Amino acid sequence: MKVKIRVPASSANLGSGVDTLGLALSLDLRVVMSEAAAPSVAFGEGFTEPLADEDNLVLAGVRAAEAAAGRTLAPLAIAIDSQIPLSRGLGSSAAAIVAGVLGANALLGAPLSRAECLAVAARVEGHPDNVAPALLGGLTVAMQEGGTVLARRLPTPRLAAVLAVPDAALSTKTARAVLPERVLLRDAVAQVQRVSLLLAGLLCGEEGLLASGVQDRLFTPYRRALVPAFDGAERAALAAGALGVTISGAGPSILALSRPEETAPVREALTRALEEAGVAGRVLALSIDETGAQVSLEEGGAPCAM
Ligand code: HSE
Repeated sequence: MKVKIRVPASSANLGSGVDTLGLALSLDLRVVMSEAAAPSVAFGEGFTEPLADEDNLVLAGVRAAEAAAGRTLAPLAIAIDSQIPLSRGLGSSAAAIVAGVLGANALLGAPLSRAECLAVAARVEGHPDNVAPALLGGLTVAMQEGGTVLARRLPTPRLAAVLAVPDAALSTKTARAVLPERVLLRDAVAQVQRVSLLLAGLLCGEEGLLASGVQDRLFTPYRRALVPAFDGAERAALAAGALGVTISGAGPSILALSRPEETAPVREALTRALEEAGVAGRVLALSIDETGAQVSLEEGGAPCAM
């Protein structure tokens, strides 16, 4: 039996929704896996060189699903293709983990529910905010506390995502190392106010709330120095009509929310901002992925509910 899994990219945080909000985006990770006589991993689109097994998060997802199900699969032949740039704040790790969990679960006969798959994937990733949109699609809110993960998909806002993606990667580990252990009460209160306004703006279609709503007091002040061209890109994108600008996930990509029909000027502004700052990279105009992760079984297998 062969299983095919497709998982979207995602942008976490959306500024003030740190470790909580995520948006699925129109770039895909595709994985094909089947049980085989000997294990193998083929890396296709998106990989310049093979990953070592210990760095392969699809395998980490497989192992976590096996552990959660209490069963082990035969050796796997796995093929991985990805349009999602690695270590750029676009959810490549979460997509790989979700693909591994869903693929293994399908080959095991779907012993884990959708909610269990999400919790297993979030535990491997450490934060639920990319895993939730990768699995559910659209705009999501998620919480992780101990072994408990609660996640919900919210109504999809009418927005596009324009992303400035630097060529140089930034690891989440590095981006989290700069965060403080403690924050001031006034910053925590300001954050609650902003994320509440952000959600009001997103759910009620009040575009005017987004620019203030994305303003993050907890992560961004410490990370902006790690994100090349952030200040200039933020100014330029807002001047070109972006509705809100923030770091995408742990960075270094910059997310500009835009009306779907007005991405061109925002794209041009971000391209110029990267050029003016001497930062090599590219700018992508993406739509929101409404589908989330998809799994299909081939060679006589029944369709999977996941
Ligand atoms: N919310 C996470 C962060 C995203 O900003 O560090 C990466 O998992």
